[in-house]
Amino acid sequence: MIRPMVVQDISRVSEIEKTVFTSAWSAGDFTYELTENPFGHYFVDEIDGAVEGYIGLWILFDQAQITTLGTTLNHRRQGIARRLMEYGLRHAFQSGAERISLEVRVGNIAAITLYESFGFQRKGIRKDYYQDNHEDAHLMVLERNQAWKN
Ligand SMILES: CC(C)(COP(=O)(O)OP(=O)(O)OC[C@H]1O[C@@H](n2cnc3c(N)ncnc32)[C@H](O)[C@@H]1OP(=O)(O)O)[C@@H](O)C(=O)NCCC(=O)NCCS
Repeated sequence: MIRPMVVQDISRVSEIEKTVFTSAWSAGDFTYELTENPFGHYFVDEIDGAVEGYIGLWILFDQAQITTLGTTLNHRRQGIARRLMEYGLRHAFQSGAERISLEVRVGNIAAITLYESFGFQRKGIRKDYYQDNHEDAHLMVLERNQAWKN
């Protein structure tokens, strides 16, 4: 079941975040996003009472950006990220976004494959984007009129 992330989810989400990202957001980062950032939109996928995945977006008028997306290790390849993407993208388009962008590590084949399946296109490279290992990022963009459906 996908629902908005609430403050009570933060400890679970930040625990997951530590296991899925090398540069993880802290609980404080999520608290800021939920309570202070007027442009932040966060959703979780809850399965049998436990949060197993989450997605975040910033939506600023006609521009949106995916800020985070993660699925717990033992629930991978069960469609959680696909459901969260569908929900998040639809939410962004319904909120007025015309263009959704994201950055992804060039070596993150799982995420790139997922994003391309929604119609995201590689628009450029951000050199040395990640501080931890100096990996480059693909800038990927989805225009509303190119989206899979919405
Ligand atoms: C990327 C990630 C969110 C995918 O989550 P998931 O819930 O396992 O993904 P889904 O089961 O919804 O898979 C949807 C599609 O994504 C693609 N995909 C997912 N994992 C993949 C993998 N390991 N290799 C290739 N393609 C993959 C496939 O196209 C898949 O569809 P299919 O299963 O029908 O082939 C997950 O691997 C993750 O949390 N990774 C670490 C965090 C991360 O990299 N987030 C993105 C940052 S930009």
